[in-house]
Amino acid sequence: MQTIEQISILRQTINEWKKQGQTVGFVPTMGNLHEGHLSLVEEAKKRADKVVVSIFVNPMQFGQNEDLDKYPRTMQADSKALIQAGVDLLFTPTPETIYPKGLDKQTWVEVPELSDLYCGDSRPGHFRGVTTVVNKLFNLVQPDIACFGEKDFQQLALIRTMVEDLSMPIEIVGIATVREGSGLAKSSRNGYLSESEKQQASVIYQNLIQLKDQLNQGNKNFAQLIIQSKQSLTQAGLKPDYVWILDSHTLKPATSDTQSIVILIAAFLGSTRLIDNMLVELIA
Ligand code: PAF
Repeated sequence: MQTIEQISILRQTINEWKKQGQTVGFVPTMGNLHEGHLSLVEEAKKRADKVVVSIFVNPMQFGQNEDLDKYPRTMQADSKALIQAGVDLLFTPTPETIYPKGLDKQTWVEVPELSDLYCGDSRPGHFRGVTTVVNKLFNLVQPDIACFGEKDFQQLALIRTMVEDLSMPIEIVGIATVREGSGLAKSSRNGYLSESEKQQASVIYQNLIQLKDQLNQGNKNFAQLIIQSKQSLTQAGLKPDYVWILDSHTLKPATSDTQSIVILIAAFLGSTRLIDNMLVELIA
C-alpha cells in the first residue's frame, strides 16, 4: 500500500491507473478504523480494480464546541488494518493541504434543505463541512465508485443528492451498518465509552427494533411512538437529541401513506453523541 500526503503525487498515481484502464473505488474516512470501515473497503475491492482510502479528520465538519481535538487519531493501527485489507493507496492530507487558505476563505458546497434538518439542526454547518470535503476529495481521487456507511443515513442521502445535482460521474454505494453483539452500531465515537456504557448505549438499537415492530404491526401514531421512544432513552440514562420517523426517500416526516420508512435516532450518553437508524418497509 502506498501512503501519500501530497496532492501532486496522488494525482500522478491515479492518472497512471486510469491510463491503464483501471477503475478506482474510494472510501473516505476520518480514521480510527473499525469493522464498519473495513466492510466499506471490502465492497470497494469487489467493485473496482484499485482502492483508495483517505484518512482526514475534517475540521470543517466540527462545530466550535465539538470533539475535533480529542477525535481519536490512530494512524499506525489504521494503516496496518488497511494493508491487511488489501488497499492500494492511503491518502493522508494535512488540513493545510486541503484548506490552504484556511476554513474562512474556502469555497463550500451545500445541499439545500436537507443540510439543516435533523443532525444538521443539532450541528449547524456540519453537513456543509461534509459535502465540501467529500466534493474536494472526489475531485482529487476521481473515483468511479465511492462507499459510505448507511449508519450515517442523512449524510449518505446528502452525498447522493450532491452527486446527482452536480452531475458527478460517481456511483455512490451505501453499505449496511456493522453492529456489536449488543446491537450498538460500530462507530469511532464508541471509543469514548466504557464497556458498561456501550451496553447502556445499546438501548438505541433496542428502541429501533421496538419502533420497527410497532410500525410493522400497523401502529401509525408516529407522534406517540416518538414520545415513548424518547422516554425509554431517557429512562436508560441517555439524553435523546431526536427521534424521527421519516419517509426514507424524501427524509420528510412519514405520513400514514408512507411505505418506506426510516427511523433516525440521535442521543447523548454523557458528552458522546451517538446516532443510528433503521429502515422499515411496510407491506401495502
Ligand atoms: O463519515 C465520515 O467519516 C466523514 O463524514 C467523511 C464522509 C469521511 C467526510 O469527512
